[in-house]
Amino acid sequence: MSSEQTFIAIKPDGVQRGLIGPIISRFENRGFKLVAIKLMTASKEHLENHYSDLSEKPFFKGLVAYMGSGPICAMVWEGRDAVKTGRAILGATNPLASAPGTIRGDYAIDVGRNVCHGSDAVDSAKKEIALWFKPEELNSWKSAQFDWIY
Ligand code: PPS
Repeated sequence: MSSEQTFIAIKPDGVQRGLIGPIISRFENRGFKLVAIKLMTASKEHLENHYSDLSEKPFFKGLVAYMGSGPICAMVWEGRDAVKTGRAILGATNPLASAPGTIRGDYAIDVGRNVCHGSDAVDSAKKEIALWFKPEELNSWKSAQFDWIY
């Protein structure tokens, strides 16, 4: 099975609204495998690094402040087409454009409080995973689900 990994983060609003369980369930139910997870309050420097491509955007400062306002649930999920399918599970970046049934389409209204982050490409997933996790934090294990799903 050709497999890839994606970085998914439940943002401070998602953590504080009690959405860790429901969000994890959506990825597990779809058939993805959790290979790393931690709750982490990220520093300003770490978040500026994570969002370095957006440093010229008018919302950059507010985005970094929001993301640093409380713990984030940082995760790595693995499976076929995990990056693209992960983004589909999250829904469109602007929740008002997100379809019902997606995480943002079900739980969010405002683009500045959109509950979760997902890598937008395989290359950025690799960079983000390396930024948020040490190699030894990534678990290699056999999911019994995979025998049925793939
Ligand atoms: S852009 O402008 O097209 O580059 O932005 P986009 O790719 O849609 O989103 C990149 C991340 O910026 C967040 N974002 C915002 N945050 C706060 N306010 C506003 N107006 C805003 N617009 C976009 C968006 O949620 C993306 O962050 P992640 O963490 O990937 O969801």
